[in-house]
Amino acid sequence: MPIVDNIRAIRWEDQQLCLLDQRLLPQQEIWLKLRDYREVAVAITQMVVRGAPAIGVTAAYAMALALHEMRDLTDWQPRLAGAAAEIRAARPTAVNLAWATDRQLALAQKETSAETAAAILLQAAHDLLEQDIADNQQMGRHGAALLPEQGGILTHCNTGSLATGGYGTALGVIRAGISAGKQLQVYADETRPWLQGARLTAWELQKDGIPFHLNADSAAAYLMQQGLIQAVIVGADRIAANGDAANKIGTYSLAVLAQYHRIPFYVAAPLSTVDFAMPAGAGIIIEERPENEVRQCAGHDVAPVGVQVRNPAFDVTPAALITAIVTERGVARPDYLHSLAELRV
Ligand code: MRU
Repeated sequence: MPIVDNIRAIRWEDQQLCLLDQRLLPQQEIWLKLRDYREVAVAITQMVVRGAPAIGVTAAYAMALALHEMRDLTDWQPRLAGAAAEIRAARPTAVNLAWATDRQLALAQKETSAETAAAILLQAAHDLLEQDIADNQQMGRHGAALLPEQGGILTHCNTGSLATGGYGTALGVIRAGISAGKQLQVYADETRPWLQGARLTAWELQKDGIPFHLNADSAAAYLMQQGLIQAVIVGADRIAANGDAANKIGTYSLAVLAQYHRIPFYVAAPLSTVDFAMPAGAGIIIEERPENEVRQCAGHDVAPVGVQVRNPAFDVTPAALITAIVTERGVARPDYLHSLAELRV
């Protein structure tokens, strides 16, 4: 089955960064047009754009916008460093955000002319967007070989075109598997509390004609017990050097369930998601998001007024529960400390 891959949620048009507002999907397809890097940082915090690679690309554009704004100032270099700190602080867990911001800052710091540096940062942001799509397609080719010829594939959160420059990480592997002729049935966790699975993955799969069922997160164990799931594949927001992987809250539970049911558990992520400076997952900062995301569902109260809430947005799956990590440079297997380091540029 040829796979349609026509969704893109980040584009540059008329000197503006255009973002498909993911808070409003699937009911409305509204594009925000941003010129101010501060607005872009807020858009990342508020999840207009989300997903580790997508916020990395967005941060690269935010840096280009910041430098464009400062290009006539003599002290543009320290000011740009200040803007980088603001952009980096938009969300703490996905390393791609800091990685892309720091990369842009380092590029600019090599230049003496702000005008030249601004043009370089804009081109670098375009290149990063294109590279991300190419890396995802490459990841798809490596990962598709791991999937069965037919069967059910469980995924969590949204890891597709919306979460990246395009094509997707874990969803990219699924796309590639289907393109290669595999008879796959996707099971998409709804992914409470923000419902990335119900709102975004379901929208994306439906738009691209990929066969799937949406299921409540709590149905995962039952689906596995019924023999409907042959593999689990998820993305990652930050992978420590030892292979421990931070991803959307609920991922760790899936890995435990997969081990119990003897189902392979795969993580797909570009090497920019691997934080080689972080020795193990325990050091990863886990974002806590607003309490109302749990108290409410689709904007409606579902819990008694005033209840206390914990809302960690991510959890860390220990490397020992991960069968393989798929990257654009190939597939890493345990022990990840060595296999990931070998894939590093
Ligand atoms: O809070 P989100 O929606 O930004 O979380 C996204 C995820 O956890 C994804 O699984 C991860 O970023 C990988 S996306 C290719």
